[in-house]
Amino acid sequence: MGCKNGMSCVIAGTRFPAKPLRIGPLLVNPPVLQAPMAGFTNYAFRQLVRQLGGAGLPATEMVSARGFLEIDRRSDAFPERLWGVQDEQRPLAVQIWDNDPAALAAVGRRLAREFRVTVVDINFGCPVRDVSEKARSGSYLLRDPDRVSQIVARVVQACAPVPVTAKIRLGWTRATINAVEVAEAVEEAGGAALTVHGRTAADGFRGSADWERIAEIKPHLKRIPLVGNGDLKTAQDVVEAFRRYPVDGVMIGRAALSKPWLFHQVQAALAGEPIPPEPTPDAQRQLLLDHYGMIVRQFGPKRGTILMRRHACCYARGEQGARAFRGRVSRASTPEEFVETVRLFFPGPDKAEST
Ligand SMILES: Cc1cc2nc3c(=O)[nH]c(=O)nc-3n(C[C@H](O)[C@H](O)[C@H](O)COP(=O)(O)O)c2cc1C
Repeated sequence: MGCKNGMSCVIAGTRFPAKPLRIGPLLVNPPVLQAPMAGFTNYAFRQLVRQLGGAGLPATEMVSARGFLEIDRRSDAFPERLWGVQDEQRPLAVQIWDNDPAALAAVGRRLAREFRVTVVDINFGCPVRDVSEKARSGSYLLRDPDRVSQIVARVVQACAPVPVTAKIRLGWTRATINAVEVAEAVEEAGGAALTVHGRTAADGFRGSADWERIAEIKPHLKRIPLVGNGDLKTAQDVVEAFRRYPVDGVMIGRAALSKPWLFHQVQAALAGEPIPPEPTPDAQRQLLLDHYGMIVRQFGPKRGTILMRRHACCYARGEQGARAFRGRVSRASTPEEFVETVRLFFPGPDKAEST
């Protein structure tokens, strides 16, 4: 597309601005969703994404419905993954997982009524063994579209008028791809939008996301929007996805862990404006330290430092010296060690301490 790293660029010949995406009463503008990612898209990350701008709909990590009910029964508390949700800016999608329609409906109702979230999203895509094969939830449910339908119908009824969405993969295996059938089940049961990650559960993260297969779903949806997901790494990738495939929106996951400013760049590209350049190393360092400060406020210095190691590794991805940085930051156990390691890797003039 002719853009060099660090330089603004306009993507020529686009048919943009892209249209906002409608999820029930909500207009998602730009039509770009932040993917739910367990262990990463906590309150601090979402705050950072909001500050940087450009994500039309931030999402929490997936929350176990049975876990929620169990914690509530034992201690009248909430799962840690809902930390900050009640007071957080809107819009916000909270994702839940389970295979029991009653448990999902009970939790969905509370999220809609008490937490007043904007969207309740149901996970039908997680391939991790503990969730899929062991708990027969997440992507395991793709094997049983009738069950998907029952779940969506119950949760929709429990949450109304708050919209309920579903996130799926293409199917359980390559040989049993059934995304069209599952998509129809979601729509008929009253779902308000469908996000499709273009891999099967068996694929894990291998190979590349199959956007042709995502596109095949579109003619089968009469009422609800289709959101494509998988392997979007740059603003150009997103523009290309909209140009080539009949999706109403896109969702970005891993690339935003390395570049939380990507949403802002995507927003500009979709508006036909110059793409803002990558932040300077100095600005990236400050962002990482600000992120760390927010994580420490939520989790405390000890857990916060351990948790931030994996975020810091994402920020360094693809940069020179990333391997040495990963090795060192993965051993940091105090704020001093963490900040010192970040300063070595992202050199620049010192600014006010962020933690
Ligand atoms: C560390 C990690 C955690 C994830 N956790 C969730 C999750 O909680 N719920 C979910 O629906 N998908 C989850 N996903 C999948 C992403 O939402 C997304 O579908 C996937 O990463 C593909 O998009 P990407 O190529 O833009 O990353 C996770 C992915 C990663 C890498």
